[in-house]
Amino acid sequence: MNILIIGSGGREHALAWKLKASPLVDKLYAAPGSAGMAELAEPTGIAQDDFEKLAGFCLEKQIELAVVGPEAPLSKGAADFLSGRGVKVFGPSQKGAMLEASKQFAKEFMHRHYIPTADFQVFYDSGCAREKIKENKKYPLVIKADGLASGKGVRICENEAQALEAVSDFMEKRVFGYSGSKIIIEEFLVGKEVSVMALIDGETFLMLPVSRDHKRLLDNNEGPNTGGMGAFCPVPLDAQILEAIKKEVLERFLAGIKKDRLPYRGVIYAGLMLTEKGPKTLEFNVRFGDPETQCLMPMIKSDLAGLMLACAEGKLAGKTIETEAGACVCVTLAARGYPGNPEKGAWIQGLDKTPSEVLAFHSGTSAEGGRFFVNGGRVLGVMAIGADISSAAKKAYAAIKTINFDGMQYRRDIGA
Ligand SMILES: Nc1ncnc2c1ncn2[C@@H]1O[C@H](COP(=O)(O)OP(=O)(O)O)[C@@H](O)[C@H]1O
Ligand SMILES: [Mg+2]
Repeated sequence: MNILIIGSGGREHALAWKLKASPLVDKLYAAPGSAGMAELAEPTGIAQDDFEKLAGFCLEKQIELAVVGPEAPLSKGAADFLSGRGVKVFGPSQKGAMLEASKQFAKEFMHRHYIPTADFQVFYDSGCAREKIKENKKYPLVIKADGLASGKGVRICENEAQALEAVSDFMEKRVFGYSGSKIIIEEFLVGKEVSVMALIDGETFLMLPVSRDHKRLLDNNEGPNTGGMGAFCPVPLDAQILEAIKKEVLERFLAGIKKDRLPYRGVIYAGLMLTEKGPKTLEFNVRFGDPETQCLMPMIKSDLAGLMLACAEGKLAGKTIETEAGACVCVTLAARGYPGNPEKGAWIQGLDKTPSEVLAFHSGTSAEGGRFFVNGGRVLGVMAIGADISSAAKKAYAAIKTINFDGMQYRRDIGA
């Protein structure tokens, strides 16, 4: 079959790499795609939210499955539009995508379906939010903008002044526009975070190996938040915790989308805090995580194309997923100035010298005359598999020594 991948980042490159290995796949295309993944998936240049053109392309090239990578097209209704034109889609409906596009929607969904989460209250009015903050005695306090904010809409407030500032930034200055028209004030949870992803077809789910990302820029989780400086998979977890994640989060999620009649065929990503009182859901994302997916794909042994098609067709029941032994570590190579003001243009050298068992997925590169250049904040993800997390990390860091560009920065402690 022919598959169209919508998106252009490291996540989509990783998906293309895994899908390409499937005997079911004839040709892969990407919209818009990137030079970095062009060898695997032909870039079409079609914008990810140009639904008319995407649908036209699918018909012209006999695309049997469209895989939507990012949240933005999903929350604009990409899946509804394409499936309305007869294309099978891996990715939830616009209604389902509300679970990521609105934190209020997600929190109320969790509350309604008994999915453990932090205590919260929604505010539509900045005056009332201020009153609540003035009464509050316990810090930190978490304040979230309701809508999409490119990962910048959550503030962990250490004191009253910071909390009041968040209210003013989100609701009055509208630094994230309409996304701050409502806010959620919620309890601060303590624990370790994990990213849980599961394939889901509306009737059944299949849990994927658990991963963990590293959001802070600098070693020891210091410095500003980023889109992700690296990740590893799987996270070693007790059977009891895995069982709780399945029972209290994924099974209730499935029951919830059925009761609420949310059409959902794709992947659900639950960001969890493993607290003393068990796993609690911080948020839902309605697509694969990045960079987690970059280290997740090499850990999946089963044929992903078959599983994704089964999701899109509602035929996931009875399917299983096999995983590879060992672990995979992904280290993000970022540009100078990232995350604030990444510098573009540097020539990336040595990519052809990395050992063959190491993978490099492109997040932000451009190509000219057979050379790659820095073209984004997160530039490359470097992946290696090892017998365990520490040997995978060693291999990834050894491979990074062969890659170089002016201003290259990365964390030295991914998976440590
Ligand atoms: N209730 C909470 N308690 C503690 N930390 C939180 C809480 N909610 C969010 N966080 C932290 O903030 C990060 C971002 O929050 P999240 O809800 O995942 O939003 P987004 O990914 O959309 O920015 C989380 O990964 C977590 O580290
Ligand atoms: Mg998050």
